[in-house]
Amino acid sequence: MTFAELVARLRAAGCVFAEDEARLLLEEVGSLGEPTLLEDAVRRREAGEPLETVLGRVEFCGSVLAVVPGVFVPRRRTELLVRLALEHWRDGGILVDLCTGNGAVPAAFLDAHRFLAGAWPEVYAVDIDPVAVECARRNITATGVHLLTGDLDEPLPPRIAGRVTVMTANAPYVPSAQIPFMPREARDFEPRHTLDGGPDGVALHRRIAALAPSWLEPGGHLLVESSERQASLTADAMTDAGLETSVVRDESLEATVVVGVRR
Ligand SMILES: C[S@@+](CC[C@H](N)C(=O)[O-])C[C@H]1O[C@@H](n2cnc3c(N)ncnc32)[C@H](O)[C@@H]1O
Repeated sequence: MTFAELVARLRAAGCVFAEDEARLLLEEVGSLGEPTLLEDAVRRREAGEPLETVLGRVEFCGSVLAVVPGVFVPRRRTELLVRLALEHWRDGGILVDLCTGNGAVPAAFLDAHRFLAGAWPEVYAVDIDPVAVECARRNITATGVHLLTGDLDEPLPPRIAGRVTVMTANAPYVPSAQIPFMPREARDFEPRHTLDGGPDGVALHRRIAALAPSWLEPGGHLLVESSERQASLTADAMTDAGLETSVVRDESLEATVVVGVRR
């Protein structure tokens, strides 16, 4: 398949960046010298599968991470969660990432720590989906990391209760009724349990806010990605849980994170 033929097929399928995608598909799949692999990849992309799962990798915080079909593709806006986790870190602390997906947040957090002095962080990353946890295992090979399958904090060891320095969560926060209006890549290829945040989108945020105080150390931070529109609901849930709450917005990333501190 020539570059021009591939661009024409991708454009006909509605890919806005057809040239860029054609180049990547040719470089990363076409170069394997097996025409059926390229054809299969192009058909998957034509059907609307995210380019990242077709290629099996995604860029996040300057690193390349594995992502597989059925696992949420990390978005750039989630880099704000990593930045804030680093800002609120203290040496010797414990990080918990709930709803970790392919492990993008702890992977990027640990990547940044390679250049810092001090103790290596103790990290717990949890997802309800075993496929996501297996994918995270491919992205986080560092020692001191516990990858756990289960519902929110259910698999965390009791011995870290009251000792967590930073708890991060990019939990599903799309209101259920809005899922049919999402782009095809998300709506048809990212499983509902990666997107659906309940009637107003913050059902999981409420559960996370309620559980966080018993895990955080005094002064520990809960960081939850939200949307600009839903941030006040996420913040209300944290305030109700007794956390001191603020909202951080990064316009360049179009990202919103609600911060709760245990005083
Ligand atoms: C929006 S994705 C975010 C994934 C990852 N944190 C990221 O930013 O790329 C939400 C993730 O939450 C997981 N999830 C949904 N409900 C959960 C629950 N009750 N407990 C743990 N994980 C859950 C999903 O499997 C999915 O991987």
